Amino acid sequence: MLVNLNDVLIPAKKGKYGVGLFNSVNLEMARGIIEAAEEENSPVIFGTAEVLLPYGPLEELSYFLIPMAKKAAVPVVVHLDHGLRKETCLRALELGFSSIMYDCSTEGYEDNVRKVKEMADIAHSCGATIEGELGHVGNADDESNDPTQFYTDPEMARDFVDRTGVDALAIAVGTSHGAYKLPPKLDFERIETIANTISVPLVLHGGSGLADSDFRMAIQKGISKVNIFTDINMAAASAQKEALEAGKTGLTDLIPYTVEAVKKETMKKIKLFRQERFSTALGVEE
Ligand code: 13P
Ligand code: ZN
Repeated sequence: MLVNLNDVLIPAKKGKYGVGLFNSVNLEMARGIIEAAEEENSPVIFGTAEVLLPYGPLEELSYFLIPMAKKAAVPVVVHLDHGLRKETCLRALELGFSSIMYDCSTEGYEDNVRKVKEMADIAHSCGATIEGELGHVGNADDESNDPTQFYTDPEMARDFVDRTGVDALAIAVGTSHGAYKLPPKLDFERIETIANTISVPLVLHGGSGLADSDFRMAIQKGISKVNIFTDINMAAASAQKEALEAGKTGLTDLIPYTVEAVKKETMKKIKLFRQERFSTALGVEE
């Protein structure tokens, strides 16, 4: 069933669990994600990001992501992740995406507010939801990346949400995109303060490579949506390498390996984001 972010994140915030966003660039990844969500009987957020469009164009992805979401036995959001240009966000809405992120986090504060507010009004008029970002989540492979420089300020977050009308807010609390060189240190206190300051669900980007305990604590402190790409991307590539090493030679031989690897990694994350499974696994009382 195709739904928007509010449909899955408002219950997640109330129930103190996380819903995963998994980006895909092709049909194999999308199949792995949807199969994982259905097998876990869990809502899921299908995504693709503007920087990934060279690998899987938005329109082509929409041809299968949206029908797959509609057909699914679980609630599925089809979300544009890190929309960087107004035209890309508008195109996603036109194609039927149920949600967008308009990422103006590298712009000045007032420009971020103005642009996101304008896009929020458009998205809402289409029945879609919108995520904004305040502070900035950088890339792990960027030498100059220092996450502490761009942490989200709680009071600014309140003003941003009030003025833009976003449905969810991506916050910078120590994570980065891509494969970490050193384990990141998350500012859990900041997550808690922001969660107590604003009412909309909070989003943690750069989820790949975090420790299980990081997810557990981040969700407990107020994160409702966790974004994942690198871990499923790498799982797919490792599975293909394994298949080639096992003597498989054709593209059709690699497809089931790819789908299965993405499915397995997605299921692992879905289980982690559900706090009660987590608690049992770690022997922690709720
Ligand atoms: P990773 O690739 O580090 O998991 O980050 C995903 C993300 O934040 C997508 O928006
Ligand atoms: Zn991100």
